[in-house]
Amino acid sequence: MAKATFEIWRGDKDGGQFQNYETEVGEGMVVLDAVHNIQAETAPDLACRWNCKAGKCGSCSAEVNGQPRLMCMTRLGDLDLDSPVRIEPMKAFPLVRDLVTDVSWNFEAKKKVKPFKPRKPDAEDGTWRMAQEDIDRPQEFRKCIECFLCQNVCHVLREHDKHDSFIGPRLFIYNAMWEMHPLDTEDRLSDLRHRDGIGYCNITKCCTVVCPEHIKITDNAIIPLKERVADVFYDPIARLFRKGRR
Ligand code: SF4
Ligand code: SF4
Ligand code: FES
Repeated sequence: MAKATFEIWRGDKDGGQFQNYETEVGEGMVVLDAVHNIQAETAPDLACRWNCKAGKCGSCSAEVNGQPRLMCMTRLGDLDLDSPVRIEPMKAFPLVRDLVTDVSWNFEAKKKVKPFKPRKPDAEDGTWRMAQEDIDRPQEFRKCIECFLCQNVCHVLREHDKHDSFIGPRLFIYNAMWEMHPLDTEDRLSDLRHRDGIGYCNITKCCTVVCPEHIKITDNAIIPLKERVADVFYDPIARLFRKGRR
């Protein structure tokens, strides 16, 4: 075992500062283990959110050495422990305390997305038939664990604070999950263009880079949605074709 230093943000919405903590680290430990040690040893009032410690609940999102990461999936062995490891809360959401942010805006924005509206059943037994290849595409988006690291890194939310007019990459893939579902008949394209601000996305791919589930957010969700919006609102022939197909 050796000692390492962790520089952790302490404070709330009214202000705060980084504070240094030393703790023992060993093989196989992750950043969340070090935070738990520090809570147990020297800072019992240090606030941090976590649940599964397995990269599946999306609760332990933070910034580690400036990179948006899940603390439970960031191995200390992959960090330079000769310098203090800096741990701070996500920046795109209001701070509650220390490492905990209020991510409830995401759930409120999600409620506005039109829900799944399946077509009538194909078969007399009241069921639907789908080809696996048609469902493969939306299935990728179901891997999302709602860690909101993609939302945190997107400059439209993080720097430009467009929470009123832009729903962000997590909710674009949520839209894509329904829009690409072979049974869905709802139309979310007008909302995407007018209310949800898909035009603000300039395809920087920062969201894709940080996704712990390796969802190809930009290539597989945002770009196809942008193409659909462009077809409907800017290409009159495609618009007529789409109306005819409906
Ligand atoms: S690709 Fe679009 S949604 Fe993703 S981070 Fe960049 S601007 Fe935001
Ligand atoms: S898309 Fe990826 S980064 Fe974004 S919330 Fe889901 S799992 Fe997290
Ligand atoms: S504690 Fe669940 S994802 Fe980290």
